[in-house]
Amino acid sequence: MNFPPLNITGLPEPDKISAEHSYKLASQIQQVIAGKGGAIPFSEFMHLALYAPAMGYYAAGQRRFGAEGDFVTAPELGDVFGQCLARQVAQVFEEIEAPCDILEFGAGSGRLAVTLVNELERLALLPEHYFILETSPDLQQRQRQMLTEQLPQYIERFVWLDSMPEQAISGVVLANEVLDAMPVEMFAVDDEGIAQQLLVKSADEGFQWDYRPADGLLAEQISKLELPAGYSSELNPAINGWIEMIAQGLKKGVVLLIDYGFPEHEYYHPQRTGGTLMCHYRHHSHSNPLTLVGIQDITAHVDFTAVAEAATASAMEVLGYTTQTNFLLGSGLADLVAVVDTDDEKITKEQLAKNHEIQLLTSPAEMGELFKIIALGKGIEHELSGFAFRDMRGKL
Ligand SMILES: C[S@@+](CC[C@H](N)C(=O)[O-])C[C@H]1O[C@@H](n2cnc3c(N)ncnc32)[C@H](O)[C@@H]1O
Repeated sequence: MNFPPLNITGLPEPDKISAEHSYKLASQIQQVIAGKGGAIPFSEFMHLALYAPAMGYYAAGQRRFGAEGDFVTAPELGDVFGQCLARQVAQVFEEIEAPCDILEFGAGSGRLAVTLVNELERLALLPEHYFILETSPDLQQRQRQMLTEQLPQYIERFVWLDSMPEQAISGVVLANEVLDAMPVEMFAVDDEGIAQQLLVKSADEGFQWDYRPADGLLAEQISKLELPAGYSSELNPAINGWIEMIAQGLKKGVVLLIDYGFPEHEYYHPQRTGGTLMCHYRHHSHSNPLTLVGIQDITAHVDFTAVAEAATASAMEVLGYTTQTNFLLGSGLADLVAVVDTDDEKITKEQLAKNHEIQLLTSPAEMGELFKIIALGKGIEHELSGFAFRDMRGKL
């Protein structure tokens, strides 16, 4: 069995408060493990490390997004991403006709909501309601604060939810970098070709790996992938239920999911033998999720074929799939680019910053190719403009 390495060198030392927080959460998880017979599936460990009430990475009050945090997301870079997304939202709103709502999953700092509403106001297509379904109470609090400060005139339209709205909505459902934060099951195919599910058990200091033969639905899902001996990877066991829940809550409209990932044949490519699980800690990336518990992000890429299959099984249509660059180009990016003439003294700092932002969003070496956007829908007849530049549904 090949386990991900436990010792990672070169990571910055956590400060005293973070180290104590991590130690406390690790002790709590060790108690859970003891109560469950000595080992838990990795998905359960990841859920506790990220979402344990008041203690998990997304549930406790530290700074995660932006330059001072652990990673930067597209809406945090500036307004370009949100302004382009708003144009796609506007097209859907125009087709549906009022009243339309937005439902955003995992709204982070609230920055995307601010940009979207500002741009939709400019386009005279404001949503009736802007629902935010956020699992972290701490982040809900931050979103409330940012939106009250930045959009006081529209604060009544914002509604925070812990589960889907009671009545199905018409409009747009959004999730940027939410799927990659969902707990995954890790597995490895052993020398005899038997799929083993990775478990986490307690060690003298912290945690170590364990395994048992995968069974039930997990064994079925792994066996469908036809992977060779020695191959290890992960899958999102909750994806079907999550997509079905959204499909049930959407009367008419479009679901736009944006994240890093691949179609199934690239995700489980014979050469990608170690999966995609990554941890982010103060802008350092590494592959040991059993360390820095509660103070580092744990994430896995998204299998967009699994998303598309879940959508079809839930009576939604796959309306488009493309790279972030293609989507932004199809959504009016060119109008936002400032033409830079280096001899022109009038070029403002803002214009240069915006061009840098566009470079980060679109460069193949940054977010441009790895990040994809998939559109799922119900009752939508027009081709979506965001996929007009290049639609890659054929690759799913
Ligand atoms: C990587 S952050 C992305 C934040 C934001 N969308 C952005 O792009 O800056 C992941 C977010 O998803 C939230 N989250 C994770 N799983 C969720 C779920 N099942 N439902 C709703 N929110 C979720 C987290 O609390 C966090 O706000």
